[in-house]
Amino acid sequence: MNILLIGSGGREHAIAWKLRNSPSCKRLFAVPGNPGVFTVAEPANISTGDANNVDIIAGFCQENKIELTVIGPEQPLADGLADDLRERGFAVFGPSRAAAQIEWSKGFAKEFMQQWNIPTADFSRFTSYEEDAAVGYAEQLVRKSGKAVIKADGLAAGKGVIIAELPKEAADTVRDILGGMFGKAGASVVIEEFLQGEEASIFAVSDGVRYVTLAPAQDHKRIGEGDTGKNTGGMGAYCPAPIVTHDVLRRVCTEIIEPTLAGMSEQGTPFIGCLFIGLMICDGAPKVVEFNSRFGDPETQAVLTVFEGDFARLLYSAAIGNLDFETASNTQNGYACNVVLASKGYPDAYGKGSVVTGIERAEALGAYVFQAGTAEQNGEIVSAGGRVVGVCAHGTTLRDAVNLAYRAVDEIKFDGKTYRRDIAARAL
Ligand code: AMP
Ligand code: GLY
Repeated sequence: MNILLIGSGGREHAIAWKLRNSPSCKRLFAVPGNPGVFTVAEPANISTGDANNVDIIAGFCQENKIELTVIGPEQPLADGLADDLRERGFAVFGPSRAAAQIEWSKGFAKEFMQQWNIPTADFSRFTSYEEDAAVGYAEQLVRKSGKAVIKADGLAAGKGVIIAELPKEAADTVRDILGGMFGKAGASVVIEEFLQGEEASIFAVSDGVRYVTLAPAQDHKRIGEGDTGKNTGGMGAYCPAPIVTHDVLRRVCTEIIEPTLAGMSEQGTPFIGCLFIGLMICDGAPKVVEFNSRFGDPETQAVLTVFEGDFARLLYSAAIGNLDFETASNTQNGYACNVVLASKGYPDAYGKGSVVTGIERAEALGAYVFQAGTAEQNGEIVSAGGRVVGVCAHGTTLRDAVNLAYRAVDEIKFDGKTYRRDIAARAL
């Protein structure tokens, strides 16, 4: 079949690579794409500015006999691109705007979990008209338990969560968010208890009713080694993460994934796509930290490296409401480790335009280099974003995967190259 992939990050490079290597994929197109994506996909004849324009995308799908459209990032899902394409009769992997609300409104997600008895942190939600009550609640939570987790309701590119440890800090944060620090994303605020434990990410590919989980992964959100410094989009990931034991996974399936899919269906908004469950695991008990409505970045790069089977067929079967379990012959063959190489300064302001060398040498060692924030300039790859590339390696043991990934990391050079040396260290 012919497939169109929408998105331009490291996640999309990994998805494109796995789709390209699927027996059922004939032609693969991408928009906006990036130089890495275009090593495996053809550029769709759609200008970057039109990557969210449904008439133009539908026209392209018609002309190129696209049988499956895969939407990578959250914003087009929140904008309703999946709905618009489905209305025109195209098969889409990615939830409707209503189902994606589980990601684009944290307040919605929390109330949904409360309604369907899904384990998560205790919380309260406030709008900007309730600022005094919100401030009081946050201050009291800090006084009582030492910390309060304060979240802007809407999409804030991974920056909308602040953990306050002093009453004044909590009060200021609530006022800042409701006052517009994150724009419209902060029209309401969720304030919740701080959960102790270890985090993990699980992806459930669903046709709206049935699902298959992929290899459980662990992200590294902080910029600094030992989980210090600012939160980022993610500095590396590995899988399968041993913290997700068989017993934990069983509980995630029965206590979280199944009630979530059932609740979504019951509300008339079945979830078709990748349900991302961000977990906190404490003493073997999983609780939801967040839901996302798409594959995670940088987890996907690792998760797809250990996936064997016809990935295109899996996504297509989900998109048409008839999940084909057989297409995933092995969702976790061995281990994978993905190390993100970022620009100096990230997650704050950073420079662009440094020439990136060594991709071929890294790949010659057997690693995969997934491009995220890159551009092509005069035939060279240059940095063009905060997270520049992910260097991902497979191994029969986690130790092998980590060693190979870091040997490949050493081959890649650019000015300001910034990365963590401790990806997966917790599991070794
Ligand atoms: P989110 O965008 O909701 O995933 O939050 C970003 C990060 O903040 C998470 O990956 C956690 O590290 C942290 N976090 C969010 N909520 C909580 C919580 N209730 N308790 C502890 N940490 C949290
Ligand atoms: N890795 C976290 C995310 O994709 O949101």
